[in-house]
Amino acid sequence: MAVTINTLREYKQKGEAFSALTSYDATFAQIVSEAGVDVILIGDSLGMVLQGNDSTLPVTMDEIVYHTSCVAKGNRGSLIMADMPFMSYGTVEAALENAAELMRAGAHMVKLEGTDWMKDTIEALSERGVPVCAHLGLTPQFVNKFGGYKVQGRDEKAAELMIEHACELVEAGADVILLECVPAPLAARITQAVRAPVIGIGAGADTDGQVLVVHDMLGLTTGRKPRFVKNFLAETDSVQNAIKAYVEQVRNRTFPAEEHTFKA
Ligand code: KIV
Repeated sequence: MAVTINTLREYKQKGEAFSALTSYDATFAQIVSEAGVDVILIGDSLGMVLQGNDSTLPVTMDEIVYHTSCVAKGNRGSLIMADMPFMSYGTVEAALENAAELMRAGAHMVKLEGTDWMKDTIEALSERGVPVCAHLGLTPQFVNKFGGYKVQGRDEKAAELMIEHACELVEAGADVILLECVPAPLAARITQAVRAPVIGIGAGADTDGQVLVVHDMLGLTTGRKPRFVKNFLAETDSVQNAIKAYVEQVRNRTFPAEEHTFKA
């Protein structure tokens, strides 16, 4: 049966962890989907892993639309989440127009990076039938404001603010929250505080779901390997089995382990 937003809500209610992975083409989408991954993310990380840029900022709408349509053809029942690229949701009008394009290309949900300033946009999208994932914490489109790729929410004031933002965005209509690079205790507090499913990357084992960039979990990271990355191909004999191992280890919460987690 196809995964929908209701499936993710049921996982949260039952306390069962679910998995997400990026894919950018039909072949990987099929492999990932057939391995039992619940959510496929067409991440703007493609700007780095496919295009070789040093950030996600150069990625365009046309590029995400193209990769979303490729993924949709290979997908075998996972929920397809497409990233809205940098500045494609700078105004509510732009967000509506661009989200519509991604949904027409085959997305079931769009993902936006930001905080409370996105409330009106999320409300407008949600009211018009576009499910939304709100990405908080280390939001790579803000790398120039952060001054680098740094763990977010480390002090109590920042942690409280992130909890407040997550609650406000869910209230505005966000169906899913994604937390990137936040201390595990904070991610656990946010997961408890919101009714929406929470997906983590570098956010510890207590979120409702986990996501990784597929290149990273297959050991294809070029440059510095982030702490939260595990090479699942090193334990198995094929890409398919590596992805199955990821699904299994997320499900039984053996991934992420302590060594992949930021404690504070
Ligand atoms: O672009 C992406 O792949 C992402 C994940 C790192 C969550 O946003």
